[in-house]
Amino acid sequence: LGVRFRIYFGIIILLTAVSYFFAYNGYSYLPEHISANRFLIGLGVFFALSLISFFLSIELLTGGSTLSVASLVFFTLNFYFGPFWTMLIAAISYFFWNKFCLHKEFIKYFHNMLQISLSVFSAGVVFYLTGGRFGVLNFPGVIFPLMMMLMTYFTVNSLAVSCAIGFYEGISPFWVWYDNCRWQLFYTVASLPLLLLMLYLYQEMQEWGIILFFLPLMMIRQAYLHYVKLKQTYKETVLTLVKGIEANDPYTSGHSERVSIYARNLASAMNLPYSEVEKIEIAAILHDVGKIGGDYHSLIRKPAKLTDEEFKIIQQHPVLSANLVSHIHFLRGDIENIIRHHHESYSGNGYPDGLKGEEIPLGSRIIMVSDAYDAMTTDRPYRKALSHQQAIEELQRYSGYQFDPKVIEVVLKIRLSKDSIKGEETPRIVMVSATESPA
Ligand SMILES: [Fe+2]
Repeated sequence: LGVRFRIYFGIIILLTAVSYFFAYNGYSYLPEHISANRFLIGLGVFFALSLISFFLSIELLTGGSTLSVASLVFFTLNFYFGPFWTMLIAAISYFFWNKFCLHKEFIKYFHNMLQISLSVFSAGVVFYLTGGRFGVLNFPGVIFPLMMMLMTYFTVNSLAVSCAIGFYEGISPFWVWYDNCRWQLFYTVASLPLLLLMLYLYQEMQEWGIILFFLPLMMIRQAYLHYVKLKQTYKETVLTLVKGIEANDPYTSGHSERVSIYARNLASAMNLPYSEVEKIEIAAILHDVGKIGGDYHSLIRKPAKLTDEEFKIIQQHPVLSANLVSHIHFLRGDIENIIRHHHESYSGNGYPDGLKGEEIPLGSRIIMVSDAYDAMTTDRPYRKALSHQQAIEELQRYSGYQFDPKVIEVVLKIRLSKDSIKGEETPRIVMVSATESPA
């Protein structure tokens, strides 16, 4: 553990201890509108619901993050029971979830217990300071303090998580925040109407209201799970197809998979929107799928230089690949286009259409570089593999001619090497976005 992480962790422990102290002394009141008995039942139900929300949270397709409705439970609890009890319940449910479901290491789940307490406390205090009163649901006056509560929770929570990951892994917390937390802002703001509904239902029907609220949410979750499974099946189908083609040739085995990981890393490092990164990743794994035909079988294994005639055949493969994938609804359009142009050269003398510079889809330019890097760093029938350094030098030499200089700049910044992807899972191929799924 680095020094910066230790200092950060010390600060978090201190802040959390102070916030528990103030929460207990300032906000641990027994809400006047609820009897002691009801209070205990309420706490029990909320605890159960936050556990259920955590254990049933689903992995979002936007890059390994999880979404759960637990934060809505915490906001409701914070509103009716004040920060102290919410902090306790949040921390304990985080403990169970992180230790027994996610199986995180001690330091990670301990940190999560601290940061969730801190987030809940700050959210409650800001709610109070901006005019909100615990347990008083007065429209429309309550909306502003509630919004501030959501924003504060988001801010403290995302900052703490980004700092922890950043200092732990030795990367800039800002980039961690930018990559992982940015989009959560949208969900946070968008959850306000849901929160208002939940608060209202609790006021009118207590625990039953909350349970009623959860039922339709469970249905949405079920539908989303089906969608996730569908995408998984799709991914497996694509991978099987590509592996089948590569099985013919020991030299290209694993090539498409590696190219897609390089392309995904490059595209993410260029800060492209997640949907773009996905398209490029999928195009990369399928870029040479047109080589499935019989002619290619002997050509790609040929240990000598190709004749002009043979080279002409090879040059048809991007078009064949694009035509092939165009039969699949999901892949038609952008992905098909990226595949078609993955051998266009930046200076304009590539194939099949001789596009130049920015005319070439960005995804194709990224795949061109990833493809070349992987080809150079693996053994081929006619030569031995180059080293990482030699391959990088080659890429730099042809920057602006064959390769897009902007992509090469990124290659130099990130760790693009075979070793760097060893631990990486096979490409997480997930389809483009919910709105583009066939009706
Ligand atoms: Fe190719």
